[in-house]
Amino acid sequence: MKTKGKKFTLFLVLMIFALITAACSDGGGDSEGGGSSSNGQVDVGIVLPTKDEPRWVQDEQRFKDALAETDYSTEILFSQGSSAKEKENVDILLNKGIKVLIISPHDGAAAAAAVESAKKDDVTVIAYDRLITDTDAVDYYVTFDSLAVGAAQGQYLIDKAEGTGVPLYLYAGASSDNNAFLFFQGAWSVLQPKIADGTFKIANSSEAEALKDTAELSRDQLSKILGQVTTNWDPNEAKNKAQTHLTGVAADMKGDVSILAPNDGTARAIADVFSSDGDITNYTITGQDAEKASIQYVIDEKQSMTVFKDVRTLVKDAIDMAVTVLDDGTPETTGSYNNGTADIKAKQTDVIVVDKENVKQELIDSEYYEASEFTGLE
Ligand code: BGC
Repeated sequence: MKTKGKKFTLFLVLMIFALITAACSDGGGDSEGGGSSSNGQVDVGIVLPTKDEPRWVQDEQRFKDALAETDYSTEILFSQGSSAKEKENVDILLNKGIKVLIISPHDGAAAAAAVESAKKDDVTVIAYDRLITDTDAVDYYVTFDSLAVGAAQGQYLIDKAEGTGVPLYLYAGASSDNNAFLFFQGAWSVLQPKIADGTFKIANSSEAEALKDTAELSRDQLSKILGQVTTNWDPNEAKNKAQTHLTGVAADMKGDVSILAPNDGTARAIADVFSSDGDITNYTITGQDAEKASIQYVIDEKQSMTVFKDVRTLVKDAIDMAVTVLDDGTPETTGSYNNGTADIKAKQTDVIVVDKENVKQELIDSEYYEASEFTGLE
């Protein structure tokens, strides 16, 4: 009996230890991917911003699928929305001898320190989806056409707006993410003439209202608007802001409205708030990322559109680039992006607008998702 009891206690201790270990690794930087070689060396390190948003879990999965085919060893770590954790992740990978770092920063400016230490170790740095700003320690940038993402969102709202004086609610991503500026800039490039001509009236940003006759906004002007309408890429923050806006506006800012939401996570949160307001008769709302939950929202007509960024292409471009570098070649690029300090050679990918009309064709027929993952798909 006694031995059995001891064995059982030991078993329990081991179980608890295993559970704690699993929980810890889940919250921090997960070490996954193609795996390291037998001597612990890693060729390509990949650092992604957070596991808390489906967008980046998609990227992780697509990296894993693509990496299964390369001979080089890889490791994927998550920064969980912390620049300190991100720097730690980069240091871990540098200690494992990586030759190439593929990194999507949590904060584009703060990540400069991490990539500068990578450069000191002669590592080739590839910024992935999000640019790292104000440093020359970035070799390449693989990205979607982010201005086109914003322009597509803005154009969608224009195409669906009826009549004049349509209330327009503006929301944006995090100011620490260069993409948030590009998305908003792209949207503004098409929306501004339609605000100026009275098709739309801005409901929730005095800064945007003050700039409504300015076609091209400077970074400072964009910062001012983003400062007011940022969601910080956080659905909760988006929800709270939307609630505050709807409580604060006059009756003429309700009825049929248009909402510029920067991505799917925030779009669903904002849509939920608008759909539960009895004075909102109809809303058109944008998104981006083609997250599964938002595809269901599009099918259910709770979210009007999303911008599909085929992560398979971005992942392939990043890996092709890394492999070319490891094979001593020069990666192909299609243009460049200025990051405030240098022109970074870039490979850019187009995006696709998806709404209820073409959701099946773009996402199911292209085998990005399976039809069985959704309900009500015709
Ligand atoms: C990405 C978007 C994503 C957002 C929030 C942006 O940098 O381009 O796809 O929705 O970050 O994570």
